[in-house]
Amino acid sequence: MLLSGCIIDEDVIYDGSHSIETISFTMWKNAMAAAHALVYALVWIVTTTNGKIPDVFVSCRFSEDCLLPCAFKPAAEEVIGWTRQEVMVHSFAQGRDQLDQQHTHFTGRTALFTDQIAHGNASLLLKLCNTQDRGRYHCHVATTRGNQESFVIAKVEAPVQSLTLEMTRLSGHEELKCSSRDVYPAPHVSWYTVPPEPLDTLKPITRKMANKNGLYSVESKLRKLPRKDSSTYTYFCTVNSSYDTQTWRASLQERELSSEEGGELTIPCLSPMALHNFTLTWTFTSADESKDILTFNSQTELTSNQWAGQAQVDHDLILSGDGSLRLQNPQNAEHTGTYTCTFSNGRSHHMVHIWVNITATAVERLQAEGSSWLWVFAVLLAALAVLVTVLILCRRKKADRSPASKSAEVATEMHAMSTDERENGIQSENSNQTD
Ligand SMILES: *[C@@H]1O[C@H](CO)[C@@H](O)[C@H](O)[C@H]1NC(C)=O
Ligand SMILES: *[C@@H]1O[C@H](CO)[C@@H](O)[C@H](O)[C@H]1NC(C)=O
Ligand SMILES: *[C@@H]1O[C@H](CO)[C@@H](O)[C@H](O)[C@H]1NC(C)=O
Repeated sequence: MLLSGCIIDEDVIYDGSHSIETISFTMWKNAMAAAHALVYALVWIVTTTNGKIPDVFVSCRFSEDCLLPCAFKPAAEEVIGWTRQEVMVHSFAQGRDQLDQQHTHFTGRTALFTDQIAHGNASLLLKLCNTQDRGRYHCHVATTRGNQESFVIAKVEAPVQSLTLEMTRLSGHEELKCSSRDVYPAPHVSWYTVPPEPLDTLKPITRKMANKNGLYSVESKLRKLPRKDSSTYTYFCTVNSSYDTQTWRASLQERELSSEEGGELTIPCLSPMALHNFTLTWTFTSADESKDILTFNSQTELTSNQWAGQAQVDHDLILSGDGSLRLQNPQNAEHTGTYTCTFSNGRSHHMVHIWVNITATAVERLQAEGSSWLWVFAVLLAALAVLVTVLILCRRKKADRSPASKSAEVATEMHAMSTDERENGIQSENSNQTD
């Protein structure tokens, strides 16, 4: 009984201890599980922070092909899935593309390098990129070795390809217009002048518009500044887009020049900044018709001159930024007009418009004035000659009939009489009317 009781007690104790043991065991088990979970979590954190492949950044050019890289440890039974924000971009399983779930945005524009997959290359070729293709792409590869994943962040850019700066008079006053088109993302336009003026004096107005492809056209206008002293402003317009570190720049200057015909005339043109690998072109515009004068290439140091013998430039001076044109024997009719000098190298265009007025020489002007007087003089002389001839003829006719002195008297009398007669006639007419 005692024993039994004891046993019972023991049992009880045992039972009790058992229950305690069970509790502690469960606690231990739970603690172990928690520790395990912690370790697992730590391992997971370590693997996901250290072991995870960092995002790859890719810059795609608008309307060109773009490669989104993805590499994995090669193993059999590859299942590749490319997605972007839960949208199916491309998938591959059982040795071939599985495109029935592909989003229509990507239809016909994606491809894997099938022959490279066995070598652990799951890179995606995205063809004809557009502005809607940007985003974070997920590459997921499942093989017999397990799952592997990586991300590619793709941006799309359409870099600045041209910049135009021109003077317009469309709105009634003289304006400078700087424009560029088909750029993505929206470009940034800024202006400055030499000599400098504060931006709130320039007050440019810039408009940006996106076309249906998402590409931007930008147009910025600036009123021509009133002329200060004798200085001529050089206007600069710069355009840059955020993905493109290089800036496009255009400048424009307008000048006037007056010179006499003949001799040699130097039309000045200085590049406003040092350029490498540039071309210099001179054109001539008269009566809305433009002609090329010459082009100089700084790399080849060759000039193609359409005005050979009439115009020339100095190669050494051009290379140091002085593109001045020397005109031989300029003539008023042929050479009066606007000369445009342009220094350009890819992203920079510097233009100087020079309105050149070739005036006739002093001697010629005198000759011109002299000849006009001569003409009047000649007419007078001719008139006088005719008068004299008439008089002489009359005199001769009268001399045949009567003495010369009388004929003159008669002529005078006849003249007086005819005048009297006419006056009388008029008078009589008037009197008739009054009667
Ligand atoms: C995958 O293959 C393509 C085509 O040969 C190659 O251009 C690309 O660099 C490769 N990418 C990787 C991650 O190996
Ligand atoms: C363009 O360049 C200016 C400096 O010249 C800079 O402040 C601006 O952020 C750039 N804009 C873009 C869109 O990159
Ligand atoms: C000029 O162009 C040539 C060939 O295009 C290039 O090798 C050289 O680096 C360029 N020079 C400069 C200063 O840009």
